[in-house]
Amino acid sequence: MDKFVIYGGNYLEGELPVSGSKNTALPLMAASILADGTTVLENIPNLQDVTTFAHVLRILGASVQFDPKEHRMHIDASRVNFPEAPYELVKKMRASFYMLGALLGRAGSARVSLPGGCAWGPRPVNLHLEGMKALGAEIDLDQGYVVAKAPGGRLTGGTFALDPPSVGATINLLLAAVTARGSSRIENAAREPDVIVFGEMLQQMGAKIEGLGSTIIEIEGVDALKPITFKNTPDRIELGTFMIAAAMAGRPGDLIHISNAAPEHLGEAFVDAFARTGTKFSFGPGYVDVIPTDEIQPVSIETAVYPGFPTDLQAQWTVFMTQAKGNSRITDTIYTDRFAHIPELHRMNVNAIVVGNQVVVAGNRPIKGAYVMSTDLRGSVSLVLAGLVAEGETHVQRIYHLDRGYENLEGKLSAAGIAVQRVAYQEFPDPVNETA
Ligand code: EPU
Repeated sequence: MDKFVIYGGNYLEGELPVSGSKNTALPLMAASILADGTTVLENIPNLQDVTTFAHVLRILGASVQFDPKEHRMHIDASRVNFPEAPYELVKKMRASFYMLGALLGRAGSARVSLPGGCAWGPRPVNLHLEGMKALGAEIDLDQGYVVAKAPGGRLTGGTFALDPPSVGATINLLLAAVTARGSSRIENAAREPDVIVFGEMLQQMGAKIEGLGSTIIEIEGVDALKPITFKNTPDRIELGTFMIAAAMAGRPGDLIHISNAAPEHLGEAFVDAFARTGTKFSFGPGYVDVIPTDEIQPVSIETAVYPGFPTDLQAQWTVFMTQAKGNSRITDTIYTDRFAHIPELHRMNVNAIVVGNQVVVAGNRPIKGAYVMSTDLRGSVSLVLAGLVAEGETHVQRIYHLDRGYENLEGKLSAAGIAVQRVAYQEFPDPVNETA
């Protein structure tokens, strides 16, 4: 297994480039199987989740070639002939559940494992299932698998109202509805940029979709979609993570340039909260410049659906706030248990208390290096952020969580002045004789 060893005390400086969006790349890959022929996707990040998803597509019969240096992926879906997404992959990565909509759209039938549990509490898929029924699918459960069929081989289309406006369910329903026999309507749809960019790819493939970015999406089914070349958008969560890293670990007054970015996807709430910390920043086409302040103001946040404050930046914000000149409160309304990083941060001298779905964070406290690990992607990167400003060495273990969503993070941080190394280690050292 790998860990990061971060030697605290260096300023972050220069440039941080942002990779392609993970949470957009996965639905783009799913969309490719709706078209016979070869789809080319550009700006696809070299991440573990992308590798896992490519594996899911190969199991279905697609041929997938990925050039990780060029970030280009070729997916030939001509021979998709096995409509099943197995448990081994869906349990690893919930986005594999997109195969339900993609296979219903492509083949009129699907057998997709239910995802099961998640590191930070329940993440149900009831809206995906109820939504597919509304579009005309017959759904059964067999041995932990969802077995879905479109009577007559093609869905009829229909209307479904999401509550809450789930990102994944909106994407899954779009995948299923674009080739339905009739028209469909998704009410209270998710408005995240990931959904919009994915919908734009479907439109370029020939899908008839209206209302992307609004709460009502209307789809008129078409007979077939064509394969295209499509460029993925930059990762908005990596951008937000880098803005926080720059504000915390940059030298006050120095400019840090974050490139290959899409600042327009950050959402109002994050931008507003970031401004209230007193950090100076400016946006340009494809970049964000950050100038850290030595007087970070405490800013409480509450997560919400886009353009609200993203739950995927909540853990990073918590660490940012340990450096502020006062106390703050972080509330997660999307995933009310997403706090696995807090006990690890305690090991680094952070004073933060979880009360229900809130964390109360004490500012003005030095962070101290320690051995830590987290059980999820965003929690892990929050520990890396803590390591940037910690006294001494921080060992962030089980970095495979981080590798799911941050491409070459150690390379990007090293090039920006941070002393960080990826080191292989043994999780369970030689057994010791236990005594009572
Ligand atoms: N929900 C339901 N029923 C459902 C589906 C969702 O009640 O059938 C609820 C969830 O419990 C949650 C809320 O709806 O309270 C929102 O969940 P959503 O379905 O929008 O989340 P998701 O599609 O499973 C995506 C991202 C997550 C991100 C969330 C919220 C991908 C692959 N994942 O998940 O990203 O946290 O949206 O923005 O796009 C990450 O990248 O670290 C990550 C977890």
